[in-house]
Amino acid sequence: MIRTDRIVIVGAGIGALYAALELAPRPVLMISPEALGDGASSAWAQGGVAAAMADSDSPEAHAADTLRAGAGTVDAEVAAMVAQVARDHILDLTARGTPFDRDATGAYVMSREAAHSAARVVRVAGDQAGRQIMETLIAALRDSPSVQVIEGALATRLETDGDRVTGVWVASARAPSGEALIAAPAVLLAGGGSGGLYAQTTNPPRIRGQVIGMAARAGARMADPEFVQFHPTSFDIGEDPAPLATEALRGEGATLITRHGQRFMPDVHPDAELAPRDIVARAIFAEAQAGNRPMLDTRAALGETVLTRFPGVAETCARAGIDPVTQAIPVAVAAHYHMGGIAADARGRSSLGALWACGEAASTGLHGANRLASNGLLEALVYARAAARDIAHTVPMRAAEPVALSLPEGGHAPDPEAVDDLRRTTTAHVGVRRNAGGLRAALRVIARLEAAHGNDPTFCNMTATATLIAAAALARTESRGGHWRDDFPEPDPAFAHRTMIRLSEAFAIREAAQTEAADASS
Ligand code: SIN
Repeated sequence: MIRTDRIVIVGAGIGALYAALELAPRPVLMISPEALGDGASSAWAQGGVAAAMADSDSPEAHAADTLRAGAGTVDAEVAAMVAQVARDHILDLTARGTPFDRDATGAYVMSREAAHSAARVVRVAGDQAGRQIMETLIAALRDSPSVQVIEGALATRLETDGDRVTGVWVASARAPSGEALIAAPAVLLAGGGSGGLYAQTTNPPRIRGQVIGMAARAGARMADPEFVQFHPTSFDIGEDPAPLATEALRGEGATLITRHGQRFMPDVHPDAELAPRDIVARAIFAEAQAGNRPMLDTRAALGETVLTRFPGVAETCARAGIDPVTQAIPVAVAAHYHMGGIAADARGRSSLGALWACGEAASTGLHGANRLASNGLLEALVYARAAARDIAHTVPMRAAEPVALSLPEGGHAPDPEAVDDLRRTTTAHVGVRRNAGGLRAALRVIARLEAAHGNDPTFCNMTATATLIAAAALARTESRGGHWRDDFPEPDPAFAHRTMIRLSEAFAIREAAQTEAADASS
């Protein structure tokens, strides 16, 4: 065991980096599974950060759009607060050197994305916002002697004393063989969401619900785990993870067509391709199921400019042998963002003492059942700062030497076949389209896999998160936002509220599904 007075931050995406900088000069220890800058979902975010920067826009309109997209379960106070402070965060990132796109007058160039009533997304080099913001923050961090980063280490579980977190267990991220306990005065979980629990995802390979699962296993309260957002337009080119074709393309007028060249969104929603993301995702899913191979067509709207204005998209096209100037891009729905996660209050506090959460790992009430595009990075920034300030107020500052950590190697990452089985099961039964039979079947598979691999804490973090998603989805007998039940296709006003659940309750739902199957076969 290593004891430190550093604040431990688990994760290395935008929330983690921003919080570490906000905490400076207080000593911080960041736990990053990969080299800094690699492996975080934030770096893959193409769209940008939603903020009412234009004179014609307002935080009130931004909050109203957030509420509308969220399908009845957004916390209105949270939406108002986040929209109000968005501008400050953009100015702060600008002052730190983020090269946001500007026009000839110096005004921010704003992208339009689905369900926004205005062009409201600040961006960098078209589709490079996530990577560029990360680079800015990493450069600042390298100049911050208060922050120690341990790369190649994976947090596996939390140490608790009653309802208080007292430390984090870590192992080698490459070939874990044994764990070490880092005892610390405060832990901030900022390690991303759960997209990689699905076979079709836009998230980096390590983002598989581990941080959410770790907090759940320690007894923290979870919020809205059933609300998973599926992005309508990931590249359908056989890659895992599936590269993203940003929604900003549709904001520029790109259309969705079948392989026969027919547009289908105008028949589905008055906003057509710019309808809320859950609606577009379901339409794409339906076209794919009907064998119509949905495609994103940028030809008329962008022509050759797609190559220079969206370099990330152009690079993926080149790799896949698609010429977007003359060809439409095949697309599929992919797990993209987890609205649910560790229940976090306005200060980023979880229900456990000494444990804070921010970014996709947290659920603050901002996103409801369907996150408004580009509110994800914004929420990470807002709650990273809130958590850092709260930690600074509550934890006495002490000088701390760098932590010397040597993690034994030679072991194995979770069994790849078990992970594949888990991912196929969630996609088949806990994905875009859900029903009671499929959700119960998924819970039984998750329980079986967990029983077979229960000695691997990393795998148990994944199964804990998968259990929370499936159990809460089974309990929500209605359809709302990204949660679509074909056996309960309408929203039910009685469910127009957030879910609050602990893992023990999700396990009880899972056990009931197992008992039911045993009874049926006896
Ligand atoms: C996108 O660029 O389409 C994704 C933006 C987001 O998920 O917020």
